[in-house]
Amino acid sequence: MSVLDADAPELDLAGHSFVVRGPSALKGTLGVSGAKNSVLKLMAATLLAEGTYRISNVPRITDVGLMAELLRAIGCEVAVYSPGATGAADAFSSSAETVCSPDATGAADAFSSSAEDVCSPGATGAADAFSSSAEDVCSPGATGAADAFSSSAEDAGGSLVIDVPAQIEPVAPRNIVDRFRASIVVLGPMLARCGKAVVALPGGDDFGHRPIDMHLQGLARLGVESETVDGYVHARAQELRGDTIRLDFPSVGATENLLMAAVRAAGTTVIDNAAREPEVVDLCEFLVKMGARIQGAGSSTLTIEGVEDVERFGPADHCVVGDRIVAATYLAAVGIASGEITVTGVNPDHLAVLCGKLADMGMEVSVDDRSISAAVSSRLSSAKFSTLPYPGVATDLKPLLVALLATTDGVGSVTENLFAERFRYVDDLRAMGADIRIDSHHVVIEGTGRLSAARVKAHDIRAGAALVIAGVGAQGETVVSDAHHIARGYDDLAGKLRSLGADVSLSRS
Ligand code: EPU
Repeated sequence: MSVLDADAPELDLAGHSFVVRGPSALKGTLGVSGAKNSVLKLMAATLLAEGTYRISNVPRITDVGLMAELLRAIGCEVAVYSPGATGAADAFSSSAETVCSPDATGAADAFSSSAEDVCSPGATGAADAFSSSAEDVCSPGATGAADAFSSSAEDAGGSLVIDVPAQIEPVAPRNIVDRFRASIVVLGPMLARCGKAVVALPGGDDFGHRPIDMHLQGLARLGVESETVDGYVHARAQELRGDTIRLDFPSVGATENLLMAAVRAAGTTVIDNAAREPEVVDLCEFLVKMGARIQGAGSSTLTIEGVEDVERFGPADHCVVGDRIVAATYLAAVGIASGEITVTGVNPDHLAVLCGKLADMGMEVSVDDRSISAAVSSRLSSAKFSTLPYPGVATDLKPLLVALLATTDGVGSVTENLFAERFRYVDDLRAMGADIRIDSHHVVIEGTGRLSAARVKAHDIRAGAALVIAGVGAQGETVVSDAHHIARGYDDLAGKLRSLGADVSLSRS
């Protein structure tokens, strides 16, 4: 193995491993950047209207590069800037070129699109509504948008400038979509913009079957006809018209897709049993800046009055909401390794349930407007967790909590209520000495105190991060292979843990 430069960005980490030498107590302050699960949806939302968008507090993660590649395939220009960059485009694109025209990536070519796939003004009723030039577009609510773009010192992220042209090609090709689940959220905005869309069925994390039936059923209520042929969803609507949609489950992705279709539909759409996650609220705020009329953001009922007048819909600037899951990762890390840390750039309200539970376990937790401080001086006691839609404990935290409970005092459990098969990291934690039993969708963990080092593998973003933080508290050298999974959602995990005193590096396997 060759160790990379300590400052090397964690981007294309294919063939790399995290090497963690523990145990180390953690001490210090670190900033988290914007949420992966928000920025990817904001990027998709730009497809709704022609013009230039600026998004700040953007995490340096590979999924942002993938979404940039997808937007380019659809016809947009996307420039990605590192934190502090003043103009030179660079950074976390998955392609070498960060500012490029749609055909520069070759992605569009890979999918044989016909001229018909190009969404031009006049091509459909929906596209007519978008036949304005950049000059014609006004951006209601854009006051303060410039402020949002000038990121404060606390913003740990980079930025994006997205130019959406007058014509887009509403086709999301398999070679990109296959690589990340969030790609499905281009379906709603492309339908709203063009009245038609072709989207490959999404890939993404490997934790079980992840259907999109709620997306398609909800869109059908808005007048969308769809069929799936050879792994592609072909969707079309003569006209999107508002209706009442009751989701069987508060799906984050379905809520977002329906929102982005409904903002341009004729009449009023009500989404009942909508997802309430902060990232959905962030998307609502962005859409409102663009001119959408949305009520109820953050509640279970979203009421969207469609804006058909193109003059009232246009580009906006936005600062991405802080990543609560990444912030929680560092809280779990200090729970495992002990020490005293402050995590900035996150709204503590977004982790209220988790912080309450951690305090019950013995962690000293205090919060400020945009930060959470946590101190751990002795072994925490165990607890029972259940993953639930927001405001409950997020399913994404499950592997992190299982890693934490492996070190606490007593028997703890985590009950998974969202993704039935999210258990693949358990064998890896067992290899590190954890005592874990799986009983249906419950994980029961007998805390064993300190774990020991092992060679393990990241199966998905959060499972991989859980193994890295387990390694920080473990005795010896832990090697977590398949680091590229972690880089999909964590902005410089190794560097940030090092800034807290942990011994974490990246190696080429
Ligand atoms: N579901 C359906 N049908 C659908 C949609 C969802 O049955 O049409 C089910 C899913 O199979 C799952 C449950 O509903 O059992 C929840 O899925 P949801 O749609 O809420 O999840 P998602 O939108 O696909 C987002 C995040 C996930 C996070 C979940 C739950 C993004 C890109 N992903 O996924 O984040 O776990 O919400 O909060 O926003 C991660 O960041 O590592 C990650 C996986």
